[in-house]
Amino acid sequence: MQQKISALFKEKFQGEPSLYSSPGRVNLIGDHTDYNDGFVLPAAIDKAIYAAIKPNGMDGTVNLYSVDYDASVTFALDGPKPEQMWACFVYGVANEISRMGVRVGGFDAVFGGDVPLGAGLSSSAALESVFGFALNEEFGGSLDRRQLARAGQLTEHNYIGVMCGIMDQFASLFGKEDTLIKLDCRSLEFEPVPFNTKGYRVVLVDSMVKHSLASSEYNVRRRQCEEGVAVVARHEPGVKTLRDVTHEMLDKYGSEMDPVSLKRCRFVIDENKRVSDGCEALKKGDIETFGRNMNGSHTGLSREYEVSCPELDFIAGFAHQFDGVIGARMMGGGFGGCVIHFIKEEAHDSYLAALKPAFKEKYGVEPRVIDVVIGDGSRRLV
Ligand code: GLA
Repeated sequence: MQQKISALFKEKFQGEPSLYSSPGRVNLIGDHTDYNDGFVLPAAIDKAIYAAIKPNGMDGTVNLYSVDYDASVTFALDGPKPEQMWACFVYGVANEISRMGVRVGGFDAVFGGDVPLGAGLSSSAALESVFGFALNEEFGGSLDRRQLARAGQLTEHNYIGVMCGIMDQFASLFGKEDTLIKLDCRSLEFEPVPFNTKGYRVVLVDSMVKHSLASSEYNVRRRQCEEGVAVVARHEPGVKTLRDVTHEMLDKYGSEMDPVSLKRCRFVIDENKRVSDGCEALKKGDIETFGRNMNGSHTGLSREYEVSCPELDFIAGFAHQFDGVIGARMMGGGFGGCVIHFIKEEAHDSYLAALKPAFKEKYGVEPRVIDVVIGDGSRRLV
């Protein structure tokens, strides 16, 4: 892929480009907690977006070629937003880092990658991260990785319309081989948690449902949490976000809340605890407890946060019954995408051999299986 991107650059543009990559991510546990100032446990994966890029000396003119869409676009950085969604990510992140002080000029770029699209592996965060990282380097910026993650998140807010948290961009930028990132989304401090998967596999099974509801329902969930917090904050002035809210507070003030908001808030408090408990267990080598927390996360996301779908529930339910699957849960924003499994090496083949036909019989399609390895974050390759 890397060679292909560099070769295509030379075919379409002048000169010798630099080459960068930023990976997609998985999240072992902790969903819908990031925008509530909570905890998450993501990691970067061995599938990435690659970008060959070179400043072109033209004031603010950007020429882009997307390998995956086999399409070219030219836009001005200070002009209107491009029509193509994929170009908006680049336009957005370039403008966000300019606002943070990087003097971004015109550039030519070719990009493409092997992060499966629409499977919930954060291909869009990988795209934002690779361009944020590359442009910061190419134009002599001094932004650090935290600021670049923020620029990617703001791209989603200001140019795409998804009010996401910072997990995906953070994982793409900070990922490290064999390491999970326990991120405190309030302070943005993180603890690297060694993840030695010897004897185990991380496997994703794609429900084949494209998460079309994801952006609208995602923003609704975020609002429901904020509404819950506002009720508690009326009584408890120290409460700023769901991170500050306890079950006791919800017992006290929950009757003033919309019951749906109450349910969402309870889920987030529990999910934060599952991240902490799961991490502690993992550090002690107590894999079984870690897995139980993963399973609990799925049940909560499905029943209390209501961001699952029948296909995801089917896969997770199948996994929870299967000997050798340590833990399994839907992952990411929801309404489609993948179930992440942490599974014993020796159960890998028999599990998939049993799941695939059962899923196909029920839903008429074979689910896609994506094996991932935990890898490094954004970097310059050449
Ligand atoms: C999407 C968002 C993230 C996070 C997850 C749910 O991936 O981009 O910020 O909120 O959903 O955990």
